[in-house]
Amino acid sequence: MSDKLYIFDTTLRDGEQVPGCQLNTVEKIEVAKALDLLGVDVLEAGFPVSSPGDFQSVVEISKVVKNPVICALTRAIEKDIEVAADSLRYAKRKRIHTGIGTSDYHIKFKFNSNREDILQRAIACVKYAKKFVEDVEFYAEDAGRTENEYLAQVIEAVIAAGATVVNIPDTTGYCLPDEFGAKIRFLKENVNGIENAIISTHCHNDLGMATANTISGIINGARQAEVTINGIGERAGNTSLEEVVMIMKSRKHLGIVPGIRTKHLLKTSRMVSSLMNMPVQPNKAIVGRNAFSHSSGIHQDGVLKYRENYEIIDPIDVGVNESSIALTARSGRAALKHRLSMLGYHLGKEQVDLVYKRFLDLADKKKDIRDEDLEILAGSNGNKKNKKVKLEHLQVLCGKSTVPMATVTLNINGESFSHTSSGNGPVDSSFEAIRQLVHHQFRVEEYLVQAITKGSDDIGKVHIQIENKGKYYYGFSGNTDVVTASVEALIDAINKII
Ligand code: KIV
Ligand code: ZN
Repeated sequence: MSDKLYIFDTTLRDGEQVPGCQLNTVEKIEVAKALDLLGVDVLEAGFPVSSPGDFQSVVEISKVVKNPVICALTRAIEKDIEVAADSLRYAKRKRIHTGIGTSDYHIKFKFNSNREDILQRAIACVKYAKKFVEDVEFYAEDAGRTENEYLAQVIEAVIAAGATVVNIPDTTGYCLPDEFGAKIRFLKENVNGIENAIISTHCHNDLGMATANTISGIINGARQAEVTINGIGERAGNTSLEEVVMIMKSRKHLGIVPGIRTKHLLKTSRMVSSLMNMPVQPNKAIVGRNAFSHSSGIHQDGVLKYRENYEIIDPIDVGVNESSIALTARSGRAALKHRLSMLGYHLGKEQVDLVYKRFLDLADKKKDIRDEDLEILAGSNGNKKNKKVKLEHLQVLCGKSTVPMATVTLNINGESFSHTSSGNGPVDSSFEAIRQLVHHQFRVEEYLVQAITKGSDDIGKVHIQIENKGKYYYGFSGNTDVVTASVEALIDAINKII
């Protein structure tokens, strides 16, 4: 029997506290819907008393997001609790998250108070929140630096007052994983009534240990993890949702499983990153651009032989299409051959050797070897000589107040065929003519024209992606005439179908 790990997402509350990353209500609803699709159990939608915007966001999210519990944060202040309860009025399932600082730092320097007073305020805020909602989560702010005996006393009292979840935040990201785990275990073993509440972790990343501390907390008895997408949050951020989820999923023997639809992880990460203007570092675990990209020859060869040689997660499980093989000067023949075959070039050993030599020369000069570079390397190897379709002649008529027309002559298997078509411009007309000449159905999926430099006499580079019977083929060409480059790129892709 495995235990459920509740995922409490606080991207829209603690995550959104990052300076310059604030979202408007419409954007928050968009993120909330994505979190719902991802399958989070609890969605902390805001701190309603903090601003009218935050209040409104909690109201609107409560109206449209119906699966997760919608949670609103408060301080241990009656007014905060009343406002939070009001903001949650449309929520199907609602929770108030209230609490107070329990470390001696907070007690002395924030509240100018004493432990007994703080204990009473903790009890009072839970009792007050219980008047409005059944589900009340209590947080002991700075629990990471709170002495365990006092923390246990507070937690026992708030559970007796009705708290359903007790949150043990490492607010300053100070704890070591074994300390944090021991703290959770201490509470499990020393708090009367602890079985009546769920213990939650809420770890910050000031020393880069948020995920490690969260996992240690879970191993020692916590069953809710408070996390954010991409680990965003003020200072060094919060615990990252995707890391905790994939750790628990890939370590099934721990028997504590989150109910997250992991295939949506990458998509959700990208959405949050772009709406919040917070780029994800390329080497970020699970969702970074390089998380499944292999660049050294030994690793590339190993992954191509058997993915699990160098990957513990199947990229498809987190919404990444496939592992990528980054071609650099350290790549071997296996990687080059693999990439060429994905581009439609199936070369024999001698040809690969020749292209590999050219590739190494280029890779020494250029950091970023792109598909079009490989096309040129492979194309100049003679492979293109064998192409069945060649452009013999192209004439276009276009301009203002003129119906665009194109006449294309193709050499197909040694014979010439011509066709004239019209379209919405010279490129469209030419593509239409080609469509009539070749016997393959295709759909243009992507068409991109780029100039190499800035002059009007520049070479235009055209990339095209076409679809034929569910498969995708890439074509590339460069020419000072962009219509010719477009036609050649399309022919390049068509030859790969053949
Ligand atoms: O880090 C923290 O202690 C918090 C609480 C308000 C839950 O964010
Ligand atoms: Zn926090």
